[in-house]
Amino acid sequence: MRIGNTMKRALLTGAVLLLLGNAFIIYRNYDTEWRAYQKQYLALAIEKTTDPQTRAVLEQRTPVIEQLVVTGFGKQRVDRCMTCHAGIDDARFSDAPQPLRTHPTIPGNHPYRTFGCTTCHDGNGRGLATDDAHGTTKFWMEPLLKGADIESGCAKCHGVTLAETPHLALGARLFFTKACYGCHKIEGVSDGKLGVELTRVGAKWPLAYLEESIVVPKANNFESIMPKMDLSPEEVKALVIYLKSLTGENLMNGPVERYNAIKAWRAERPKDVPVTVEAGKRAFADKYCDACHTINGVGGKTGPDLSVIGLQRTKEWMVQHHLNPRSLVGGSVMPDLKYAATELEAIALYLSTLKTLTVDNAVVYAVPDSAGATH
Ligand code: HEC
Ligand code: HEC
Ligand code: HEC
Ligand code: HEC
Ligand code: HEC
Repeated sequence: MRIGNTMKRALLTGAVLLLLGNAFIIYRNYDTEWRAYQKQYLALAIEKTTDPQTRAVLEQRTPVIEQLVVTGFGKQRVDRCMTCHAGIDDARFSDAPQPLRTHPTIPGNHPYRTFGCTTCHDGNGRGLATDDAHGTTKFWMEPLLKGADIESGCAKCHGVTLAETPHLALGARLFFTKACYGCHKIEGVSDGKLGVELTRVGAKWPLAYLEESIVVPKANNFESIMPKMDLSPEEVKALVIYLKSLTGENLMNGPVERYNAIKAWRAERPKDVPVTVEAGKRAFADKYCDACHTINGVGGKTGPDLSVIGLQRTKEWMVQHHLNPRSLVGGSVMPDLKYAATELEAIALYLSTLKTLTVDNAVVYAVPDSAGATH
C-alpha cells in the first residue's frame, strides 16, 4: 500500500505538533512545580517568623533552585532535593505538609549539608520535577528508596551489620541459609558459578525486578534453572533489600584520611561558652569565619564584609542564619559548622556590636546609635 503525499504531510504535521505539545508540558512542569513549593515554603517561613527584620528579608526572597554538591562520598553528586523539600533541616517545619516537612529523626548524625540526600535515598539528585527527581520514570535505575527499602542505601557506607538495618542483616543471612550463595557469585562474599554474578545487581535493577527474580525465577527466562524457593514475604523483602544494596560501590572506600577527618569532625563536640562579646569574638576567630569575611579591612572576600553587620541584621536573624543559612538566603554557600547554642548567641552578640567601619585605626564611617551619640 502506498501512502499519498497529503497523508504523509498530515502525519508529519501531527507528529511535530505532538512533539511541541509534549515539550511545552514538560517545560511548564519543570518551570512551575519547584517554584510553587519554594513559594509555599517562603510563605510558611514568613508565618513562622516573629522577628520583624527576618520577616522583611524573607519577604524580599524569590524562589531559587537549592543545590548541594556532595563530594565526600564516592562520585560527586549534585542534589537539588531541598529545592522542594525546603524545610528538611528546619525544626520549625515538623508540622508542615510534604514536601516541606522537617526530616524525621533517624539513627546516627548525618547532616544534610555534608551527606546530601541521594547517598541514602537514591533518586535523581538533579531532578526538579517530582517524578524525575524521585526517579520513578521508567528509565532511572535508582528510584527513590523509602520506608524499610532505604536500608539498602545505608549499606553503601555501613555494610550489612548495623542493628539499625535489621532487614539488611536478615537478607545477608538468608543469602547463605537459603543456598543462594551456592549458585551466585558476589565479590568478596561468595563464588557460586551456576547463576549470574550479583556483585552489582542492585545498581542494575530496580526493587520490583529483584523481587520478581526471586519469587518467579522463570519470569525473565523460562528455561532458568533457578529453583523457586520456599520463602515468606518477610524473607523475600529482606533478600530484595540486601540485593538492592549490592552496587559494587562502597562510598566509604575513599581515602582513609577522609573517613578519619569526618570521624574526628563528628567526635568533636562544640563547647558551651559564656554569652559575652569577648567569647563571641574568640569563637569568630576559632571557627575561621575570617577566612571568608572581612572586618575592618582584615579577612577574606568570599563572603560579605561584616564591618557594620550590627547595623544591618538583628541578633535573631544572625542566629537563624547560622543554624540554617538557606532558610534566609536562598542558595547560600555558608559552610556547615558545629555550634553550641551559647556559642551562636555569643557570635551573634559580638557581630551585633559591629557598627563602625575603621581602616588603619581611622574611623571612616561611624553611625549614631538611637540616643544620637556616635561610637
Ligand atoms: C519537584 C519537587 C520535588 C523534588 C525536586 C523532590 N521531591 Fe521528594 N517529594 C515531593 C512531593 C510533592 C512529595 C510528597 C508527595 C509524594 O510522595 O509524591 C515528596 C515526597 C518525598 C518522600 C516521601 C515519599 C513517601 O512516599 O513517603 C521522600 C523520601 C522524598 N520525597 C525524597 C526526595 C529526594 C531524596 C529527592 C531528591 C533526589 C526529592 N525528594 C526531590 C516533591 C519533590
Ligand atoms: C554516605 C555514607 C553514609 C550513609 C549512606 C549512611 N551513613 Fe550512617 N554514618 C556515616 C558516617 C560517616 C558516620 C559517622 C561515623 C563515625 O563517626 O565513625 C555515620 C554514623 C552512623 C551511626 C552512628 C553509629 C556509628 O556507626 O558511628 C548510625 C547508627 C548510622 N550512621 C546509621 C545509618 C543508617 C540507618 C543509614 C541509612 C538510613 C546510614 N547510616 C546511612 C555514613 C553514612
Ligand atoms: C543518612 C541517610 C539519609 C539521608 C542523608 C537523608 N535521608 Fe531522608 N530518610 C532517611 C530515613 C532512614 C528515613 C525514614 C524512612 C522511613 O521510615 O520511611 C527518611 C525519610 C525521608 C522522608 C519521608 C519523611 C516522612 O515523614 O515520611 C523524606 C521526605 C526524606 N527522607 C527526604 C530527604 C531529603 C530531601 C534528604 C536530603 C536533604 C534526605 N532525606 C537525606 C534517611 C536519610
Ligand atoms: C540452583 C542455582 C540457583 C540458586 C540456588 C539460586 N539462583 Fe538465582 N539465579 C540462578 C540462575 C541460573 C539465574 C539466571 C536466570 C536466567 O537465566 O535469567 C538466576 C538469577 C537470579 C537473579 C536475577 C539476576 C539478574 O541480573 O537478572 C536474582 C536477583 C537471583 N537469581 C537471586 C537469587 C537469590 C536471592 C537466591 C536465593 C534465595 C537465588 N538466586 C538462588 C540460579 C540460582
Ligand atoms: C566558606 C566561606 C564562609 C565562611 C567560612 C563563613 N561564611 Fe559567613 N557568609 C559566606 C557567604 C558566601 C555569605 C553570603 C550568603 C549568605 O548570607 O548566606 C555569608 C553570609 C554571612 C552573614 C550574613 C551577611 C549579610 O548581612 O547578609 C553573616 C552574619 C555571616 N556570614 C557570619 C559568619 C560567621 C559568624 C562565620 C563563622 C562561624 C562565617 N560567616 C563563616 C561565606 C562564609
